[in-house]
Amino acid sequence: MSFGVDYARMDRDFQRGDEMAAVAFLEQLAGSGSALELGIGTGRIALPLAARGIRVDGIDLSQAMVDQLRTKPGGDQLSVTIGDFADVPVSDAYRLIYVVFNSLFNLLTQEDQVRCFENVAAHLTSDGTFVVEALVPAFLYQLRNNQYVEAETIEVDAVRLDVLRHDPATQMIEESHVLLSEAGVRLNPVAQRYSWPSELDLMARIAGLRLKQRWGGWHQEPFNSNSRLHVSVYGR
Ligand SMILES: C[S@@+](CC[C@H](N)C(=O)[O-])C[C@H]1O[C@@H](n2cnc3c(N)ncnc32)[C@H](O)[C@@H]1O
Repeated sequence: MSFGVDYARMDRDFQRGDEMAAVAFLEQLAGSGSALELGIGTGRIALPLAARGIRVDGIDLSQAMVDQLRTKPGGDQLSVTIGDFADVPVSDAYRLIYVVFNSLFNLLTQEDQVRCFENVAAHLTSDGTFVVEALVPAFLYQLRNNQYVEAETIEVDAVRLDVLRHDPATQMIEESHVLLSEAGVRLNPVAQRYSWPSELDLMARIAGLRLKQRWGGWHQEPFNSNSRLHVSVYGR
């Protein structure tokens, strides 16, 4: 249901603003080795990383997202496997495996997230690293009634709403971007099962990896109680 044709079209040219910092950070870790992105999407990070001369492979479940990636410059050069990144369904070993923009949380059970860490560990070179960029769930605990509706855009002929509900017991976030216009209603649903950074660290330990670095962002800001996201680097 998520990451379909509509979402992929919207996502094609989306930029968050910290892409160059992310790419510089990842480039350093890849060194002279190759990289694998879990949930490569439309190549927001993979394409500029590959443009720096690094071999970047990808995995994604959504053919629609990969179709958009293929339309971008360099997008036809990358090897992308259609499949579930919890399985890491590739044969090579990588110096760098990374999953960004909360995509790890698209695995909706703790079991699948642990399985992902285990399969990543099996595909890392001995000096390889696994980088996870994800939200810090603290903001969810400030929501009123564990939910919100936010008006993203209000125009004369269309309204775009962000609708979110949080279940602290299951650590689930259900969200949809809802476009109401004369053409009708369009929904872009996405579900996430979030983990605190400490839970991710334990998943890494189960998979035989250890936390090496944790930053509050791609510019290597210190990670502290005000951090809204974390960039965590795991290795052996
Ligand atoms: C939020 S998008 C991020 C895309 C890209 N990494 C970026 O930062 O712009 C998440 C991507 O992960 C993919 N995805 C979600 N769950 C997946 C799974 N279990 N296996 C493979 N891909 C998955 C989606 O299809 C989507 O392309």
